[in-house]
Amino acid sequence: MESIWQETKLPAFPRLRGDVHTDVLIIGGGMAGLLTAHFLRENNVPYVLVEKGRIAGENTGHTTAKITMQHGLIYHRILRSGGMEQARKYLRANTLACETYERLCSRIACDYEKKDNYVYSTADAKKTEQELYALQRLGCDAALCRDLPLPIQIAGAVKVPGQAQFHPLKFLAGLVQGLCIYENTCVREMIGSTAITDTGKITAKQVVCATHFPFLNKHGSYFLKLYQHRSYVLALQNAADVDGMYVDESDGGLSLRNYGRLLLLGGGGSRTGRKNGNWAELRAFARAHYPRAREVGFWAAQDCMSLDQMPYIGQYSARTPRLFVETGFNKWGMTGSMVAALAVCDRLTGRTNDWADVFDPSRSILKPQLLVNGFEAVVNWLTPSEKVCPHLGCALKWNRAEHSWDCPCHGSRFTAEGTLLDNPATGDLPDKNSAP
Ligand code: FES
Repeated sequence: MESIWQETKLPAFPRLRGDVHTDVLIIGGGMAGLLTAHFLRENNVPYVLVEKGRIAGENTGHTTAKITMQHGLIYHRILRSGGMEQARKYLRANTLACETYERLCSRIACDYEKKDNYVYSTADAKKTEQELYALQRLGCDAALCRDLPLPIQIAGAVKVPGQAQFHPLKFLAGLVQGLCIYENTCVREMIGSTAITDTGKITAKQVVCATHFPFLNKHGSYFLKLYQHRSYVLALQNAADVDGMYVDESDGGLSLRNYGRLLLLGGGGSRTGRKNGNWAELRAFARAHYPRAREVGFWAAQDCMSLDQMPYIGQYSARTPRLFVETGFNKWGMTGSMVAALAVCDRLTGRTNDWADVFDPSRSILKPQLLVNGFEAVVNWLTPSEKVCPHLGCALKWNRAEHSWDCPCHGSRFTAEGTLLDNPATGDLPDKNSAP
């Protein structure tokens, strides 16, 4: 299912042929990897980016493309669990990300528009009041709203003005011109900082893993500290101009924004591998509230979720000083990617900044969610199943809406025939059978 963004075709890049030496190898050609390549080029650092398929062909092509520092109700949560300094750093990093998009988008025709962003709660006004208080303590311009131009009964909403939305692939079409990229080049193995592909070796001084879910299992235990979440989007004509970007603070809630005359309605999601409402839930909402609307597109997105709702950006593990990671953007992939690219570029060019440590992947992960993640893995590992995930052996679940085999442990997905769709698995199912 292609998104409306994917009507924009990106320039094609060659496949690697032969061996290459460089300073920095970036593995993964989504928004995070491509922005990292862009900043390294700006800093005259030799680099090579490799992508196993086409650039921006997966999650970047399926985003709702909101650019905002307001990520659900995160500031109240960080203030409570990490304190003022941590909340300030998170805010500084994401504000810088928004400002950097504005600067770059001023040179690229990508339908960049300033919009107010709203996070609403349908059940609990107190949650939005606490978030407003947190934002005000941090010096942000924010306000409470009791009504929104949406057909949704809300208890309260927090508005942050001056955020933005854009067309991610038009943006990338401009950004990637002249970057050193090899497409259709899959890294099969890393030996130290040498990447082995089917068509050549890349030897680098430092390596950045920007593969959505980090694919090297040997380090960092990302299979314990990440899980994946699936969500769904409809593009509707003749629906409504909602003049802003909206998201429900609750996990299974809705997300809305316009693109031109279309309304993008997101939601229906769940942890990958679990039952969810998918497009059926969104279609029922559209029928009830926008009866004249016509569906002109539908797609799904897959997000890597960290255990404390903050990305993992920086050194891949304490033992890998030359290997870096950019992951766990928790559905805020546009700003998360920019924060990651800025932080990793600073690190690779020897610059210090005063906020990157808050994203350190080696930070304490002794969270209740770690137990939930571990429990989920053990249960699914022991469950008998027709199909078993080649990543770490969990039982795969059949996804009726998308006709795919999905892994509830870490979110790998496969077509009905067994072809790999989403990592962290690195290959197809061993027995390529047909669907049930
Ligand atoms: Fe890890 Fe399936 S994705 S076991």
